[in-house]
Amino acid sequence: MACDPRVMEYLPPLTRAESDAALDRMIATEREHGHVFWALERKVEGDFIGFCGILPPRSPIFEHEIGWRLAHHAWGQGLAREAAEASLAWAWANLPVPAVMAITNLANTRSWGLMERLGMIRYPDEDFEHPELAEGDPLRPHILYRIHRPLPEAD
Ligand SMILES: CC(C)(COP(=O)(O)OP(=O)(O)OC[C@H]1O[C@@H](n2cnc3c(N)ncnc32)[C@H](O)[C@@H]1OP(=O)(O)O)[C@@H](O)C(=O)NCCC(=O)NCCS
Repeated sequence: MACDPRVMEYLPPLTRAESDAALDRMIATEREHGHVFWALERKVEGDFIGFCGILPPRSPIFEHEIGWRLAHHAWGQGLAREAAEASLAWAWANLPVPAVMAITNLANTRSWGLMERLGMIRYPDEDFEHPELAEGDPLRPHILYRIHRPLPEAD
């Protein structure tokens, strides 16, 4: 998935070793915090189709973050949305957080389109240049969306 140029169009490219290291970090984060960008499998077929989930606060935005990446063959079927809605439901049930944010590059319309389908709101005052990307890199400008914990339903 991490060497498919369609999937990685708006993400820094990863070598096999970097992808393996990222997976090791994910496993360590799951062990330490109990949540991460989880692997996704289709319910019936059981095949790996990508990841989605909630990361604990980290640099440069110290808030819980929802994120996603699907293999190209799994796009366009509502699977990312299903996984994201399940991840948010998990966050509201298991984390004492008032909100969850998501970040992406402005050009990544598929990603911020999903943010909007989830009911997330863009905070244009919080646009930022991603410090881990070089100045002048077209992927550096980032936008931020946030969704707040839903109010409890009235009896
Ligand atoms: C961002 C990404 C996860 C979005 O995936 P996606 O499949 O487009 O998102 P959704 O699950 O919301 O699916 C929406 C699409 O499925 C279609 N769809 C089909 N059946 C559906 C259903 N039952 N329910 C909902 N949507 C359905 C919708 O019409 C929509 O199609 P469209 O994009 O042609 O309008 C995916 O493009 C991706 O992995 N991109 C590469 C990695 C990346 O950039 N990650 C984010 C970094 S910040």
